[in-house]
Amino acid sequence: MHADIVVLPGDGIGPEIVAATLPVLEAVASRFGHAFSFAEHDIGGIAIDRHGVPLPDATLEAARAADAVLLGAVGGPKWSDPKAKVRPEQGLLAIRKALGLFANLRPVRPHAAALDASPIKAELLAGVDIVVVRELTGGIYFGDKTRSDTDATDLCRYSVAEVERVVRRAAALARQRRGHLTSVDKANVLETSRLWRDVATRVMREEFPDVTLEHQLVDSMAMHLLSKPRAYDVIVTENMFGDILTDEASMLAGSLGLLASASLGDGKVGIYEPIHGSAPDIAGKGIANPYATILSAAMLLRHSLGLEAEAAAIEAAVSAALDARVFTADLAPSGQSVGTTQAAQAVIDRLG
Ligand code: NAD
Ligand code: IPM
Ligand code: MN
Repeated sequence: MHADIVVLPGDGIGPEIVAATLPVLEAVASRFGHAFSFAEHDIGGIAIDRHGVPLPDATLEAARAADAVLLGAVGGPKWSDPKAKVRPEQGLLAIRKALGLFANLRPVRPHAAALDASPIKAELLAGVDIVVVRELTGGIYFGDKTRSDTDATDLCRYSVAEVERVVRRAAALARQRRGHLTSVDKANVLETSRLWRDVATRVMREEFPDVTLEHQLVDSMAMHLLSKPRAYDVIVTENMFGDILTDEASMLAGSLGLLASASLGDGKVGIYEPIHGSAPDIAGKGIANPYATILSAAMLLRHSLGLEAEAAAIEAAVSAALDARVFTADLAPSGQSVGTTQAAQAVIDRLG
């Protein structure tokens, strides 16, 4: 097949991990007889520098017309002045919203060879296989904001329809997996969470009676995620809770550099990006872990292009590279490590 993929490297390590991932997609294309075209566009800080805005019209138009979007990361100290009028992160939020990508799938599956990298005891990690479905276009991220000399506000708002669609997406996923959905909220305090819980309960009763539903408050969820991670199958939660819980969950896998994501809506185009940021502390050194981005490319093949065998081939190759202990520095703080390009090459070398 032929596919048009829009590539948004962004800032910091973004260009490094994306540059390492494209050859993996090229290798898949040649092995499986596909043709992928890659068109690079600006987003984030680099777009502010070049165009004055974090999401240029040309970038959004290209993304709309593409079959899928592969993104690195945005942001960095250069654009982080609290008084700045425009911010790289606004570009990311804007493109997610404009493309209607309300469901952000973040799989968490610790790999046996990387268990040492996790601060959690290995016996708690065996068999952990979670997908967090993070609501991505609503909540406090998108509510009105105010700022005066003496105070500031961020409004958190959710509509019934916004909760319904993301709960449905998560429940459908749970149905294909182990049939268990955990809905995470703060219903003991927040009105938006009480709406969330009501809607989740109704949708599950009416449409997914075969999927078990459990409600969990977000604070104790943060604890249970580390103390009994095997208890979870699919977790669905609102935007900010999902953001925070998944960085925490990355410690089950051993590094933020291992967690991939797919941002999906009702349309055909999705955005695929690692869950981590632009890692300014290691940018430019060639040591960033590319596996999260490579695994995001696998999700792109699966979810936007319907190429299941090709996606599985990438995932198997990453597993094989980890088995061979091809570790970047984040996975091997005191052991032998390789750079970004070498890690990606190790994946290409192991593509069936
Ligand atoms: P971060 O995720 O960039 O980094 C956190 C820590 O994890 C750092 O020590 C970093 O070196 C490490 N790390 C992250 N990815 C890694 C990788 N692939 N390999 C090895 N180590 C890795 O979070 P931060 O430092 O809080 O944020 C930095 C900037 O990134 C901010 O401007 C933030 O807004 C932005 N950010 C962007 C995205 C995105 O584009 N989706 C996500 C999160 C943060
Ligand atoms: C992520 C990031 C973004 C988010 C930021 C950069 C806007 O942390 O993709 O997880 O909070 O959604
Ligand atoms: Mn985040």
